[in-house]
Amino acid sequence: MQGLLDGKVAVITGAGSGVGRAAALLFAEHGAKVVCADIDLANAEATVAMVGDAARAIRCDVADPASVDAAVALAVAAFGRLDVMYNNAGITILPVPGVGLRKLVDAPADEMRRVQEVNINGVVHGCQSAIRQFAAQGGGGAIVNTASVAGLIGYGGVVYGATKGAVTSLTRALAIEVADQNVRVNSVCPAGMLTHYSGMDPDSPHADRIRDGMGRAHPLGRSIDPRDTAAAALFLASDLASNITGVNLPVDGGLSAGRKTGA
Ligand SMILES: NC(=O)c1ccc[n+]([C@@H]2O[C@H](COP(=O)([O-])OP(=O)(O)OC[C@H]3O[C@@H](n4cnc5c(N)ncnc54)[C@H](O)[C@@H]3O)[C@@H](O)[C@H]2O)c1
Repeated sequence: MQGLLDGKVAVITGAGSGVGRAAALLFAEHGAKVVCADIDLANAEATVAMVGDAARAIRCDVADPASVDAAVALAVAAFGRLDVMYNNAGITILPVPGVGLRKLVDAPADEMRRVQEVNINGVVHGCQSAIRQFAAQGGGGAIVNTASVAGLIGYGGVVYGATKGAVTSLTRALAIEVADQNVRVNSVCPAGMLTHYSGMDPDSPHADRIRDGMGRAHPLGRSIDPRDTAAAALFLASDLASNITGVNLPVDGGLSAGRKTGA
């Protein structure tokens, strides 16, 4: 099979779990060499063990620009170049047990600051680092960001949604800024997925029941799997999408398209 990323080198942040791990496996299956960057090195290494020789792990806190630069430098040192930067790492503000999602007026400042640092600044740092490397290689390259359906419609926590709205906005504006360097910038916007990030265990005995409940909110009736989001990222990273930039692609079973009416 001809891979969609044959000969390409990708850095994936948040590759130790969920969407990032699914993307590392899928990108490698499609011929890419991947650097798995995660704040949790043991989990990044576990992803690398699943991928094999085509992957390397590095501890990376995307909130720290030097840490992101180091992940890009590893891609160049290990595999010779960078073609795809997948800024996927993100965190949420978890519901408080017995209270649920806190309202904006009750949101603690330190929690708000950290979610902004990771979800907004982390993507900015990934874009900066990648654009510098793409320029050093003579131009070209693809950036994919993981935003959220919360960046497209009101959905869940306000501060989290604002960070993802920042990512969708950045995606459009940056796509225009770097188009003349033949760098493409797109994002994927998933609806809720059962991953560790929401404080849930995707392998728990109740996971399928929870997924069924999540899927009922979607016109297509199924919950979103991390592999669905990874597949959208693969397409946007690949040359199949060579004339697509500035797009925020929902991966949400139709949720953001509108509501069912009638009956
Ligand atoms: N799960 C959902 O419901 C959902 C919905 C929409 C969007 N998203 C987004 O998808 C992306 C991936 O989340 P996921 O669901 O796979 O969650 P996950 O928790 O399974 O994976 C996130 C990974 O990011 C890593 N990480 C956290 N902070 C980091 C940092 N500062 N630097 C580097 N790595 C860091 C974590 O260690 C983890 O391995 C996030 O951007 C998230 O906001 C998730």
